[in-house]
Amino acid sequence: MTFKIAVLPGDGIGPEIIDQAVNVIGAVAARFSIALELNSALVGGIAYDATGHPLPDETLELCRNSDAVLLGAVGGPKWDSVQPASLRPEVGALLPLRRELGLFANLRPATLFRALSAVSSLRSDIVGDGLDLLVVRELTGGIYFGQPKGRSADGLTATDTCVYSKSEIERIAVVGFEAALKRGKKLCSVDKANVLETSRFWREVVIEVSSRYPQVELSHMLVDNCAMQLVRNPKQFDVIVTENMFGDILSDEASMLTGSLGMLPSASLGSTPTAGGAGTFGLYEPIHGSAPDIAGKNIANPLATILSCALLFRHSLGAEDAAVVIESAVTSVLNAGYRTADIAGNADVPLGTVEMGNKVLEALLA
Ligand code: IPM
Ligand code: MG
Repeated sequence: MTFKIAVLPGDGIGPEIIDQAVNVIGAVAARFSIALELNSALVGGIAYDATGHPLPDETLELCRNSDAVLLGAVGGPKWDSVQPASLRPEVGALLPLRRELGLFANLRPATLFRALSAVSSLRSDIVGDGLDLLVVRELTGGIYFGQPKGRSADGLTATDTCVYSKSEIERIAVVGFEAALKRGKKLCSVDKANVLETSRFWREVVIEVSSRYPQVELSHMLVDNCAMQLVRNPKQFDVIVTENMFGDILSDEASMLTGSLGMLPSASLGSTPTAGGAGTFGLYEPIHGSAPDIAGKNIANPLATILSCALLFRHSLGAEDAAVVIESAVTSVLNAGYRTADIAGNADVPLGTVEMGNKVLEALLA
């Protein structure tokens, strides 16, 4: 059985970090004798320049015919004023990719590696000797996709619509409860039920689903309070489940607790099993963007993308042992004191993107 992985480097630092991730995938696959076929395709601004569309049909087709997708990042100032706006990389590639591939469940683990506690933006007495929480973000519904959306004919009003169906809430709640079951058995559902109808519905449905998970302790929190609690006492959280836009915002906030946006991987999963039945089809990407200001300078942190590969092995290839080996390699590189600029603090001489990738490879082969 050969697994197919679609590799979409995208824009900005995307190609640099994906190079390092691809090296890691190759080394791990060889070590565990996992047969892989990697196929690259264009996505984002680079695809727009080459084909006139940020998500060419061939790219979407390749993803559909793969077991997993590894994505770098899309977008940059060059394409910020592309008209119509629906052809900008973020809206024209990333969102349709998620939607077309049915990737409704976005897992964003925020793990503070012990070695990085000094670079967390929180005081060490708050983060202690580590932090481990998981944001489960609904990814294909809510205000990102609801209709109607747009400008009025006179140009004086703009509209976005937040819509959630019962089945959309139910399936992401199940992902949240299942994740909590495998971890600390605590699920916090985040909403804005004091104001929004979709949030009141969200809470109702989550409570309904909770009857299937008596082992999981469910709580509810308003999103503004959650934003505050994340910096006041992040250790109270195990798994957070929330709707699309709240999850977007809270996961960026959670990432800074871990020291850098450059450390956080993500997995976006649907419900389609992979071709060989080893796992679930998914798309894996760092949560950071294309960082055009540092692109091409060999200073970007490749660890979020490398950690995304661990999630790829875990969730889509059913290879937990391979995932653990990648995560352990990253841990040991950090324990040995190696840092890229974003996690260097003041003291160290930072490694470049390639050099950090090589350190992880060395640790993998050790
Ligand atoms: C993310 C990003 C995207 C989002 C943007 C680039 C459309 O911020 O993956 O968190 O809002 O989902
Ligand atoms: Mg975001």
